Amino acid sequence: MRLAKKATAIALASVMAMTLAGCSSSNTAATTAAATTAAAETTAAATESAKEAATTAAEATTGDVSDKKVGISIYKFDDNFMTLYRTELVRYLTEDLGFKSENVVVQDGKGDQAEQTNQIQNFITQKYDVLILNLVQASSAPEITDMCKEAGIPVVYINREPDAAEEERWSSEGIAATYVGCDARQSGTYQGEEILETSNKGDINGDGKVSYIMIQGDPENVDAQYRTEFSVKALTDAGVEVEQLLMQRGDWDQAKAQQIAQDALNQYGDKIEVIFCNNDAMALGALQSIEAAGRKVNEDIYLVGVDALTEAVQNVIDGKQTGTVFNDHFAQAQAAGDIAVKFLKGESVDPVNMVDYSKVTQENAQEVLDKLK
Ligand code: GAL
Repeated sequence: MRLAKKATAIALASVMAMTLAGCSSSNTAATTAAATTAAAETTAAATESAKEAATTAAEATTGDVSDKKVGISIYKFDDNFMTLYRTELVRYLTEDLGFKSENVVVQDGKGDQAEQTNQIQNFITQKYDVLILNLVQASSAPEITDMCKEAGIPVVYINREPDAAEEERWSSEGIAATYVGCDARQSGTYQGEEILETSNKGDINGDGKVSYIMIQGDPENVDAQYRTEFSVKALTDAGVEVEQLLMQRGDWDQAKAQQIAQDALNQYGDKIEVIFCNNDAMALGALQSIEAAGRKVNEDIYLVGVDALTEAVQNVIDGKQTGTVFNDHFAQAQAAGDIAVKFLKGESVDPVNMVDYSKVTQENAQEVLDKLK
């Protein structure tokens, strides 16, 4: 696995900014109207199966992807983890796979599905060759998939998994669509195991049960649902009694999590033994409130997150976060890029492509941090 170098990432961030500036005027009403016309024109081709579409793309491909256009839309740029992901994705496509930087365009969905759908329409109108999409709402996948299918453009969904029925439809109808991500059940289980691996299995006050608060991501998102469920399940499966004091959505956001943790610490005080956060950005927020309340991680409270943001991994090393789980954005971005190329070459692609998570605890945190830097 090739890891991005810091300098490269910064250089790419500026390439990306230039690319974005270049297309910032594309969301005009005129472009939208053109998109509507183009969509109508392409409806005639709707019956062509996506496999045929992928084959057509392959025929047009000379084996050299440098003239192929990749349209990427991220659910919102203002997300720590997805920022690492998109930086690696652009680096990999341009440096390792040979796409020209001007042919790799990344749009900010700004957390607004209507806006993102409009961006995707524009990619279709401008005849992009393949799309890599991190949907604002995974439930929009059927509609977006049909738009891409009608235009004969393959689509690689990343990070926010469409539901199983939609994924099955891609196989049964031969649609050139796929998902690249991680099984969030695994990350939840690892979080629970990290609590079980502590000296008192999370029961700091010895009252026979683990009392916790759960700070969730966006609950529409399967990652948030599974991490919430499976972190606690790991404890109960091991025969540990649990008590949920509070569960609240923090939308993956540090500031929101800080507020939630602050209120919970005020309300429940020493009763809280564990704070589960569905991601590290929120664990960073929770830590601010834990410290402000004069509590000490790993002594009188445990704290776990997911992603392995460098700051969080450093906190694990320093004993300020009990553990995290590496959400491998390098492997996911590279898999998404490789699969985009497979589509362009007309090769067959599995509907679901999963990358493994891994645990990050005090034992291996330094090793993980060295890889991230
Ligand atoms: C998760 C990640 C979160 C957030 C979310 C966005 O996989 O852990 O930090 O980026 O994706 O969908």
